[in-house]
Amino acid sequence: MRGGLVVVIFMLAERFLNLVETMKTQYYTATSINGYLADENHSLDWLFQFGDIEEIEGVQDDYPQFIDQVGALAMGSTTYESVIEQENLLDNPEKWPYEVPAWVFSSRELPVVDGADIRFVRGDVAPIHADMVEAAGGKNVWLVGGGDLVGQFHDHGLLDEIILTVAPVTLASGAPLLPRTITTPPLKLVNVQQYSDVFAVLTYEV
Ligand SMILES: NC(=O)c1ccc[n+]([C@@H]2O[C@H](COP(=O)([O-])OP(=O)(O)OC[C@H]3O[C@@H](n4cnc5c(N)ncnc54)[C@H](OP(=O)(O)O)[C@@H]3O)[C@@H](O)[C@H]2O)c1
Repeated sequence: MRGGLVVVIFMLAERFLNLVETMKTQYYTATSINGYLADENHSLDWLFQFGDIEEIEGVQDDYPQFIDQVGALAMGSTTYESVIEQENLLDNPEKWPYEVPAWVFSSRELPVVDGADIRFVRGDVAPIHADMVEAAGGKNVWLVGGGDLVGQFHDHGLLDEIILTVAPVTLASGAPLLPRTITTPPLKLVNVQQYSDVFAVLTYEV
């Protein structure tokens, strides 16, 4: 009887470890070719000029596949406020674009989108990442941005993959893609895709 219990506990522990091993923490974002997420006014007009990105040939298959594997996501307060502003979400909360729980990092009290599963947090990202992994239940964790927040996860060795949708534009200044020095060991390029004559999608293993 006791032996049976030990076997069950062992199997559950193994299953949990397998889940943790196969899930990834991913930074998936669009960027200018010179490494900006947004311009100096936090505008994404340079990206929106290409229309509904999810409609571009190729992307309409890949984004649903990506998001289907995401179980939790995180973003900084500037990104959160931009998402709210873009769709006027405080008046139209049903347009909140995510179905999985979202962790929003801020030292401030931010407006809440009614009905959305949003967890406001601050400080050390490591224990928060553990909560996200648990909530994701074996699926991936998506770091939406900005760059320094993703850098904080990388500082703790918690970033596994970077997927960049590179738009054919340059910006003179703005919100940096990833303000960290990662040189040795370098990132490993694991996939390259082209969408129309617009986007290059580069996937790197950290
Ligand atoms: N191109 C794309 O696909 C894409 C993707 C993502 C984002 N963006 C854009 O890129 C820009 C990113 O803005 P950003 O660089 O300012 O980054 P951000 O990460 O969105 O916001 C930075 C803010 O997050 C909060 N924060 C970060 N780490 C924290 C921590 N450990 N504890 C508590 N609070 C923390 C702080 O907010 P408080 O000041 O409130 O404390 C900080 O000022 C935005 O304009 C966004 O819309 C574009």
